[in-house]
Amino acid sequence: MVVVVLLHLSACSFVSTTATATAYVKDEGRLRSLASMEECRAAPAPPPSPPPPPFVFDPSLFLMVPLTLINGARSQGAVCLDGSLPGYHLHRGSGAGRHSWIIQFEGGSWCNSTDDCMQRKSTRLGSSNFMEKELPFIGMLSNKSEENPDFFNWNRVKLRYCDGASFSGEGQNKTAKLYYRGQRIWKAAIQTLMAKGMRHAKQVILSGCSSGAVASVIHCDGFRNLLPASTKVRCVTDAGMFLDAIDLKGKHHLREMLGAVVNLQGVEKNLPSHCTHRMDPTLCFFPQNLINGVKTPLFVVNAAYDSWQLQFSVISPSADPYGVWNRCKQNRTFCSSCQIQFLQDLRNQMLEAVRVFSTSKQNGLFINSCFVHCQLERQDAYPMSLAESVGDWYFDRREVKAIDCAYPCDKTCHDVSYVFSRSLRALMLLMNLVYMLDMLLSCFI
Ligand SMILES: *[C@@H]1O[C@H](CO)[C@@H](O)[C@H](O)[C@H]1NC(C)=O
Ligand SMILES: *[C@@H]1O[C@H](CO)[C@@H](O)[C@H](O)[C@H]1NC(C)=O
Ligand SMILES: *[C@@H]1O[C@H](CO)[C@@H](O)[C@H](O)[C@H]1NC(C)=O
Ligand SMILES: *[C@@H]1O[C@H](CO)[C@@H](O)[C@H](O)[C@H]1NC(C)=O
Repeated sequence: MVVVVLLHLSACSFVSTTATATAYVKDEGRLRSLASMEECRAAPAPPPSPPPPPFVFDPSLFLMVPLTLINGARSQGAVCLDGSLPGYHLHRGSGAGRHSWIIQFEGGSWCNSTDDCMQRKSTRLGSSNFMEKELPFIGMLSNKSEENPDFFNWNRVKLRYCDGASFSGEGQNKTAKLYYRGQRIWKAAIQTLMAKGMRHAKQVILSGCSSGAVASVIHCDGFRNLLPASTKVRCVTDAGMFLDAIDLKGKHHLREMLGAVVNLQGVEKNLPSHCTHRMDPTLCFFPQNLINGVKTPLFVVNAAYDSWQLQFSVISPSADPYGVWNRCKQNRTFCSSCQIQFLQDLRNQMLEAVRVFSTSKQNGLFINSCFVHCQLERQDAYPMSLAESVGDWYFDRREVKAIDCAYPCDKTCHDVSYVFSRSLRALMLLMNLVYMLDMLLSCFI
């Protein structure tokens, strides 16, 4: 595999990866090697680290954007899990950006059983009654040109996630009073935004983080077709490359979990037919099986060592019941060499998953070697190199196919993965406990 690397980060050298992907081993062999991985022992205990310094909240640091409920949605049955109205946050563009739009799908895992969805229904991820009334717009949603050089003056929309199936389900459970209406929410939101001016857009980006990044891949071509042919439409998927990988115990843990989501919420009919014609619907919920069939130009942003996948897929608590990997998962400097080897294998699978995709000229790629999950919407983690890469690709300033060298060569990651900036910590104080826990689980591990 030859990946053309056109990017050079100041403190982190991107190198051409010719051999790594070929090191990928097929499942059979992996099962054997993983059995011994399970035995991996962590490195010796570190000295305790000092508590973080106290901070003072400064609201002027953030652009806070209010939540708007989609009032017409109920008549279309486009409702959150609990039957409440779905919503979005819109900050209007200005000047040269007033006819350009970014739509960002919010992420937040999935619910895969009636019980799971019942619990979610009383959180911000299942009901607008529990959503924050305003959200900070940072990173790619920011209106500061220093932070967001190419899109700061665009119309920027964050679409709230309250269906639990990546905006793609269709169904309901009358007994449990649960609505699985992700697909209808997506349609209602688009209708509303079209009426608010998006139908006259000259340029549009459909993006998303995590389970929202899965939505942006699923809906990319459909969205393209809703807009006039003269509108430039491109899609971005940030931390959506959930690999259909086997975990420490040799199980397809994530495949089971996503399969349950697809079945419970009636997702199959809304998945791209280019995949469902040839594969099982559960497999078609995995972006790795969708990206090659997407016709609209697509940009994939993902960490090679995606922290969510480490935590909840390949080294989930059920795969590591004794917590042997806990310290390695919290801080990679505590991983033993045997554990590092396992992480490198995950990276090889990631590179293999984007190999064919990356050969298409219209696509863009940014696979860095940090231990993070979702990078476009974080002030501290939206490195200028990434911001510029997305812009360069969108405006065809150059081809972007960036793959970072393997850990530990990237010295820029420490800030990104683990250190909460003062402003982010301040922000988290503002938010309710559920949100805080969710962010902790999904983003900062
Ligand atoms: C960002 O938007 C806010 C609210 O609309 C505005 O007060 C602020 O001046 C804007 N910042 C910049 C840099 O345009
Ligand atoms: C609907 O919810 C009830 C619990 O209220 C549960 O017993 C039943 O299995 C659910 N039906 C389906 C099809 O999931
Ligand atoms: C659903 O997901 C949870 C984790 O969120 C997991 O513990 C559970 O086993 C999953 N259930 C199914 C049926 O996959
Ligand atoms: C990870 O461990 C290294 C080495 O002990 C330390 O310097 C670093 O601060 C740790 N990071 C976090 C977030 O604890």
